[in-house]
Amino acid sequence: MELEDTHIDAYLKIIRRRQRLHPTVYGSRINILDSQFFTLLDHQWDRIGTGPERKPPAGWSVFGQTWSHDELAVVRGELPLGIRPWHDVDLVLIPCNVGVGSGPAGFYTAEKTLKAHQGAQVDIIDRLPTPFGLVRSGVAPDHPETKIVINQFSRVAQHERCSFFGNVTLGSSISLSDLRELYHVVVLAYGSESDRALGIPGEDLMGIHSAREFVWWYNGHPDCRNLDPDLKSTDTAVILGQGNVALDVARILLRPTSELATTDIASHVLTALEESSIRKVYLVGRRGPVQAACTTKELREVLGIKNLYVNIKEADLVKTPADEEEMKNNQIQRRVYELLSKAAASGSSQPSSGQRELHFVFFRKPDSFLESDERSGLVSGVHVEKTVLKGVGPGKQIAVGTGEFEDLDCGMVLKSIGYKSVPVNGLPFDHNKGVVPNIRGRVVTDPSGDPTQVETGLYVCGWLKRGPTGIIATNLYCAEETVASISEDLERGVLKSTSSLPKAGREGLLQLLDDRNIRPLSFNAWEKIDSEEKSLGRLRNKPREKLTTWEDLLKAAAMK
Ligand SMILES: Cc1cc2nc3c(=O)[nH]c(=O)nc-3n(C[C@H](O)[C@H](O)[C@H](O)COP(=O)(O)OP(=O)(O)OC[C@H]3O[C@@H](n4cnc5c(N)ncnc54)[C@H](O)[C@@H]3O)c2cc1C
Ligand SMILES: NC(=O)c1ccc[n+]([C@@H]2O[C@H](COP(=O)([O-])OP(=O)(O)OC[C@H]3O[C@@H](n4cnc5c(N)ncnc54)[C@H](OP(=O)(O)O)[C@@H]3O)[C@@H](O)[C@H]2O)c1
Repeated sequence: MELEDTHIDAYLKIIRRRQRLHPTVYGSRINILDSQFFTLLDHQWDRIGTGPERKPPAGWSVFGQTWSHDELAVVRGELPLGIRPWHDVDLVLIPCNVGVGSGPAGFYTAEKTLKAHQGAQVDIIDRLPTPFGLVRSGVAPDHPETKIVINQFSRVAQHERCSFFGNVTLGSSISLSDLRELYHVVVLAYGSESDRALGIPGEDLMGIHSAREFVWWYNGHPDCRNLDPDLKSTDTAVILGQGNVALDVARILLRPTSELATTDIASHVLTALEESSIRKVYLVGRRGPVQAACTTKELREVLGIKNLYVNIKEADLVKTPADEEEMKNNQIQRRVYELLSKAAASGSSQPSSGQRELHFVFFRKPDSFLESDERSGLVSGVHVEKTVLKGVGPGKQIAVGTGEFEDLDCGMVLKSIGYKSVPVNGLPFDHNKGVVPNIRGRVVTDPSGDPTQVETGLYVCGWLKRGPTGIIATNLYCAEETVASISEDLERGVLKSTSSLPKAGREGLLQLLDDRNIRPLSFNAWEKIDSEEKSLGRLRNKPREKLTTWEDLLKAAAMK
């Protein structure tokens, strides 16, 4: 597009006005605030003339920030300059964003927003005093290398335009409508903090836990400090599901505790594992070894546990043409199958004395839980139905019951069949899929995804957006998509109704929390917790000793 002189005039007027109003922000030189407009201007700088308005020399900042709809309209000559008071327009150039949830999705969204919008101020709230979501409370203690991403997230939290507020719960401390009143843009990234249910008889018996609770327990999440799973009354545990979480849980139960002692596993958990009588773990999948939902690195790790007897039935490894087809199209599935076959072929036929045991059980779906005759209310086994696979095509083979049943005796069951998100008041929610209906991160009212029903200024990211699958890095791409939608909406003026008036942002949030007697905890408070945990850890030759009760966390956060 060739720029008209009137466009350039309008552009320069806007820039000069901004410089006059906000000399500290814009300085005395011209910063190009809109990458789109910058492209238009490129090659036409000589027409702008000399002086402070000339093309910025190399090294000058080019702000990728989006202009408001009205500003662009003025620049394009579609609106006369001065139609609105410009100080108002300047205010909307600094959109306030709030992200709810400080897991990977929240932090990647904040990082991308800060980069894409040089004027944006981002506040992140989390219900816990500690940030980082499942990187702290999900990733296994014996995977310290995975937690290094915390350094990157900490740099985001320490960014001058970013703030972290822990101890603030969406839904109780503050409502969604409060946040939408306070901020131009609200991004929900609060993950999946509940569990899929099997819906079969006996699911409430004692001794049955979800993997989420068990993982929170061994990772010191304050909500599961008192879970206290009974590891002493039985020698057998059944884990339902064969995804990576199931493998994590099996590894923690079976790995020699001496290898966990130098990790950040909570001390009370290490003691419980040291005293555990569990020797045998069944990993139960409703489908076959070709469909096991885990990945190779994690499978290799569990198969490589010292002094472990691994049982995989040769009969389960027989492949059908549909399995072959699936493996042809999926390298991970092929590698997982190969590893399982190799383990089946190389293992001994019987466990030796004192060996711990891991039994892969395929083609079995849980039908009901059995209650102990000796202790009423306590689980004593899982009644499973044998299955066959029906359907063709990758991912289409589903498990169908054959009407043949058997019992797996055990004293503890961990259900690892997937996490589930929970809605908050006023949030559209697809209860079937367990996600917030959205189009590329834009929340839509209607689960069918009608694009005309967009909730202006409201976005989602991470597990709440996609469902409870994907590794940490998956949330990076997910955040890129959500932030691109925000940028597009700002550019296209879609956010005009929420962004044309100044919003109270952080100041308003803090005022509202104060009125409600809620004490938000800053990133600095987390750093105090972090420092306390690290010094407690040094005493035990561990990277950290996690504080695992609300009381201890709040006490450390308040330290001078
Ligand atoms: C057990 C387990 C182990 C894993 N291990 C690995 C691994 O080794 N490597 C890997 O790459 N990926 C791993 N993953 C996957 C990875 O953790 C997820 O992809 C990622 O954490 C999802 O990010 P999220 O931000 O959507 O959710 P989360 O990480 O769950 O973050 C959600 C945040 O929202 C906060 N929150 C919840 N409700 C509210 C509320 N109402 N108000 C305010 N805040 C709220 C929570 O406190 C939390 O901080 C693992 C997952 C699990 C479950
Ligand atoms: N180290 C790591 O990188 C790591 C560690 C942990 C988690 N993660 C990631 O976190 C995400 C979540 O992991 P996840 O293990 O919770 O979920 P997942 O990978 O989706 O696995 C869920 C498992 O539960 C089974 N299942 C679901 N519904 C069931 C039912 N009604 N009855 C019986 N079985 C049922 C599934 O079988 P079907 O296949 O038959 O449905 C599958 O085996 C995954 O993307 C995972 O890769 C990564």
